[in-house]
Amino acid sequence: MLDSPTPVEATSGSRAVKSPNLAIDIAGIRMKNPITVGSGTYGHHGNFSQFFSVEEMGALVPKTIRNYRWPGNPAPRVHEVTGGLHSSVGIPSNDWETFISKDAQILESLELPVIQSVIGRTEDEYVEMVEKCSDLGIFAGLELNLSCLNLKQGGLDFGYDPIAAEKLVKRARKASNIPIIAKLAPDYSSLATVAKAVEGAGADAIALVNAPRAMCIDYKTRRPIIGNKIGALSGAAIKPMAVYMIWQLYQTVNIPLFGMGGVTDYRDAVEFMAAGARSVAFGTINYVDPMAIPKAIKDLEQYLVEAGIDDVNDLVGSAHL
Ligand SMILES: Cc1cc2nc3c(=O)[nH]c(=O)nc-3n(C[C@H](O)[C@H](O)[C@H](O)COP(=O)(O)O)c2cc1C
Repeated sequence: MLDSPTPVEATSGSRAVKSPNLAIDIAGIRMKNPITVGSGTYGHHGNFSQFFSVEEMGALVPKTIRNYRWPGNPAPRVHEVTGGLHSSVGIPSNDWETFISKDAQILESLELPVIQSVIGRTEDEYVEMVEKCSDLGIFAGLELNLSCLNLKQGGLDFGYDPIAAEKLVKRARKASNIPIIAKLAPDYSSLATVAKAVEGAGADAIALVNAPRAMCIDYKTRRPIIGNKIGALSGAAIKPMAVYMIWQLYQTVNIPLFGMGGVTDYRDAVEFMAAGARSVAFGTINYVDPMAIPKAIKDLEQYLVEAGIDDVNDLVGSAHL
């Protein structure tokens, strides 16, 4: 477990404010604070709610769903590494009927904006999910997961291909009347081009980073450790890379950014917002400290008070000034 940080860094010589504004508006989604979760790290309907009320967060992003039942990747699926997690879960998913009768009902009852993440192997599968989810009328937005290991399941790798990403987002935008967020792959060479393409296609916001591809090999057996062989790296180890990518996209596109990648506490949230994120998601840290989010919300408020900042929105992009 992490020690709770004490928000003291911002104190020197600042004008204290009593109750700073924590609310943000991102792509028309009103959040009471900028903190949310990375899809897939908080279950299908806020499963961590035994620790605190998920409604304390600004928004909930449940795990990515498909339009068909999928068991996910072979075990082992996760492996702890220094500074993070190596994983390849493979997006296990219920079919649509089970989602409707179980998860959707719980999500509908929650009093916070829910942004549902969807994926498909083809453009048609994505668009079908966008239509079905929009028709439910319970989501504040939809996140297109364009950044998972799709190829092995017979699909396109949309997040690395600006033309495919643009075509897909255009169709998704047309198929829905709620905000569409494109979650991009953390790929140094294609990121800016793909980001511009999805912005041009009508995406209302971009979420990044998803976990970059990675591999771990057991030195004794000299074989890959996880069942899928290739996985992804998440957690504190990827934070500087993620902050750089947020920084880069803040200068590249005009749509707002959901930032994530290795966030562990309020200090990281401030860092992501200064780089250009309007909302910040907590991911792998939820497995280490399920109370990290409520702590960070409180600490962020205290940080603003001590820094004399009236409005959390003033943090966004402040590192570029
Ligand atoms: C076990 C696990 C499962 C994940 N599942 C999904 C998912 O279903 N959809 C998705 O868009 N991202 C998924 N992610 C990526 C996270 O949402 C997040 O983008 C990434 O882990 C970086 O943030 P972090 O370092 O704070 O975990 C998953 C990550 C982990 C560790």
